[in-house]
Amino acid sequence: LVNDDRHDPAEVIEISVGLENSPYSVWIGDGILDSIGERLGAWRRGKKVALVTDANVAPLYADRVLSSLTAAGFSPCLIVVPAGESSKCLAGVEMICDAMISAGLDRSSSLVALGGGVIGDLAGFAAAVYYRGIPYVQVPTTVVAQVDSAVGGKTGVNATGGKNLIGAFHQPAMVFCDPFTLSTLPTREFNEGIAEVIKHAAIRMPSLLDELDPNQRTGLAPMIAKNVSIKAEIVAADEFETIGLRAMLNFGHTLGHAIENVAGYGTLLHGEAISIGLHAALKLSAQFEGMPDADANRVLDALRAFHLPLQIPAGLQSARIFDAMMKDKKFASGSMRFVLLRALGKPVISSDVTPDAVRDVIASLQTA
Ligand SMILES: NC(=O)c1ccc[n+]([C@@H]2O[C@H](COP(=O)([O-])OP(=O)(O)OC[C@H]3O[C@@H](n4cnc5c(N)ncnc54)[C@H](O)[C@@H]3O)[C@@H](O)[C@H]2O)c1
Ligand SMILES: [Zn+2]
Repeated sequence: LVNDDRHDPAEVIEISVGLENSPYSVWIGDGILDSIGERLGAWRRGKKVALVTDANVAPLYADRVLSSLTAAGFSPCLIVVPAGESSKCLAGVEMICDAMISAGLDRSSSLVALGGGVIGDLAGFAAAVYYRGIPYVQVPTTVVAQVDSAVGGKTGVNATGGKNLIGAFHQPAMVFCDPFTLSTLPTREFNEGIAEVIKHAAIRMPSLLDELDPNQRTGLAPMIAKNVSIKAEIVAADEFETIGLRAMLNFGHTLGHAIENVAGYGTLLHGEAISIGLHAALKLSAQFEGMPDADANRVLDALRAFHLPLQIPAGLQSARIFDAMMKDKKFASGSMRFVLLRALGKPVISSDVTPDAVRDVIASLQTA
């Protein structure tokens, strides 16, 4: 970690994502929104830059980023899409590309994605395909986006037939996390993002569990930085998810995705479904890998502290969850591959989990 206090009064943390062909830095600091233009100065090519955001984030933060870009000599054009997952579709990409064409952006231009994971994935994908690819910058403003989606270069949109099925790897040129923006997030959105933080802690940094405080909404830069470093390290080692390391990030997601899917997108937030999925993965870890109960309890206590659910909501049928899971792409080639823990911080990919064990764990999580 390198400290850099040239531009901002507050401390800024730099984390490098050490990719072989396209290494980049994630800059984390309260108030960094106001120095994005300045920090981009050395990197930019053309003057024209699209600032893509959503209708919730625009009134909160777009002006600050626009001012910063303008002050640094850029001519930004603001593109606002409706907030929510439904914007993450090909029509959204087309709308962004059309707006960039109208504003005269070309291959020398660039894009700034300001918002949550929806904007990061959508605008990142637009950047991946506009003029066959222009550079872009991520400015994540949700917990999910800061600790997870903004780093790693997975961009894309949903198809009618499923989530995230159309996309591209396109690494950002830089990422700017301003943890201060998290203070305007609704509590439910904040807490669901912490589910991914707890996942990171469980697979890679158990000490993080002791540092989480559900009442803390400021001074979060060190916590965000630890999560970015975990994601950065895993992504750098396995950029295209080919050696299995990146798959460790799916801890809790196999069952979590199935629950999310059966509940209907939007009923349970992603992080809430993942919280239940983590509970299931902990039970399977105890059963198949002998993970100590004390380890599971530390994770469960952390999830409870952030009011994340641990049981499957009433009305969701076990059989439908099981079927959804069998269709999940993580079950490719018929074998059940589960990320399990031997202990906190010791993930393994197991093929030992039987369909019966999956049925049992789903049944054990049903609300009585
Ligand atoms: N690319 C990846 O590796 C990756 C990883 C995880 C998730 N994702 C994707 O991320 C998306 C979910 O991201 P998300 O949870 O950030 O959702 P989101 O982008 O929809 O943001 C959640 C809500 O918070 C609002 N918001 C954003 N920042 C705010 C702020 N600072 N203050 C107040 N409101 C704010 C948004 O307008 C939205 O209504 C999903 O589409 C998922 O597939 C991608
Ligand atoms: Zn997730």
